[in-house]
Amino acid sequence: MSSTIGTLFKVSTYGESHGKAVGAIVDGCPANVELSEADIQPQLTRRRPGQSDMTTPRDEADRVSILSGVENGKTLGTPIGLMVNNKDQRPGDYQEMSSVPRPSHADFTYQMKYGNRAASGGGRSSARETIGRVAAGAIAEKILFERFGTKITAWVSSVGEIDAHDMAAEGLTREQIDSNIIRCPDEVAAAKMIELVTAVRDRKDSVGGILTCVAEHIPVGLGEPVFDKLEARLAQAMLSIPATKGFEIGSGFSGARMLGSRHNDPFEMKDGRLGTTTNHSGGVQGGISNGEPIIFKVAFKPPATIGLAQETATFDGAAAVLEAKGRHDPCVVPRAVPIVETMTALVLMDFVLRQSYRNL
Ligand SMILES: Cc1cc2nc3c(=O)[nH]c(=O)nc-3n(C[C@H](O)[C@H](O)[C@H](O)COP(=O)(O)O)c2cc1C
Repeated sequence: MSSTIGTLFKVSTYGESHGKAVGAIVDGCPANVELSEADIQPQLTRRRPGQSDMTTPRDEADRVSILSGVENGKTLGTPIGLMVNNKDQRPGDYQEMSSVPRPSHADFTYQMKYGNRAASGGGRSSARETIGRVAAGAIAEKILFERFGTKITAWVSSVGEIDAHDMAAEGLTREQIDSNIIRCPDEVAAAKMIELVTAVRDRKDSVGGILTCVAEHIPVGLGEPVFDKLEARLAQAMLSIPATKGFEIGSGFSGARMLGSRHNDPFEMKDGRLGTTTNHSGGVQGGISNGEPIIFKVAFKPPATIGLAQETATFDGAAAVLEAKGRHDPCVVPRAVPIVETMTALVLMDFVLRQSYRNL
């Protein structure tokens, strides 16, 4: 099993959904970065369950402790241990699912692959695993902001069939995005999305959605052609988030319908540097950042665990009807916002360190 991401800014996550704790080890963080739990907690609080009617009612404060790698408020350059205790475990909720694998969850594949699996709540396949990523990514975000002014902002751009209107991606703030519980800055679309998620939840069903993410103030030159192109690593990072089904950068799939004369991003001088007049490339050309905002979308499926009765089969192949118990998200996208932002930061931070040796 690979639980590690990054080559120089290396993050390994640990922990199961209903075990004692979850967290991460960050190896390769530069020394002398001012760091405390207060720098990490805000993104964990935005990710935590139980924050609104749009999310699972599992009640976890998700308070992070820094176990190592920081002394007197500064990083030592040694591995940083991060831990969040699990408190509101209810393994009993998952008893009937021990014989019936949840359709479209990871119960069947984990059991087949390992011949064993965590008894409850999806173990490592649960979104609780993402706590370690978010905590580690919050450190990367801080360093990127202090060094380059990098700002990474994700928001909900679709839920089911409801789309937010196209908005200027740059300049949106986290305060604007968090101003409603679905995390969509288009207030009209947000109200419809909230209504939809509420109706779906009341029917014991679930619904998918799409996030848009923009990373601004990005140094030119990040990305390592050919196999570690920036967009390839971003896609890998995003598609490692549970429930993701799609990634597109810049013009994405719609670019395939355009003519070159429309799709090309012509150059011009911008604030004393060579920039582009349009950004169909999404800030990446040849696998390398070009200094324009990096813009991409991530598609999330409807969560698999639903209370509605589903006809399926037990592990032994006998017909069964599953009405899943437990506390589940009717739609994951509002909670996925800080996960997408911090995973972006992890990818960018690793590339910053990889590029730094060229400038020695
Ligand atoms: C923030 C977040 C919350 C999630 N909450 C749930 C949930 O409550 N119930 C569920 O079945 N899946 C949930 N998921 C998705 C599952 O973890 C995921 O679908 C499962 O591990 C199977 O993996 P796959 O969908 O990537 O194939 C959540 C995902 C994210 C990102």
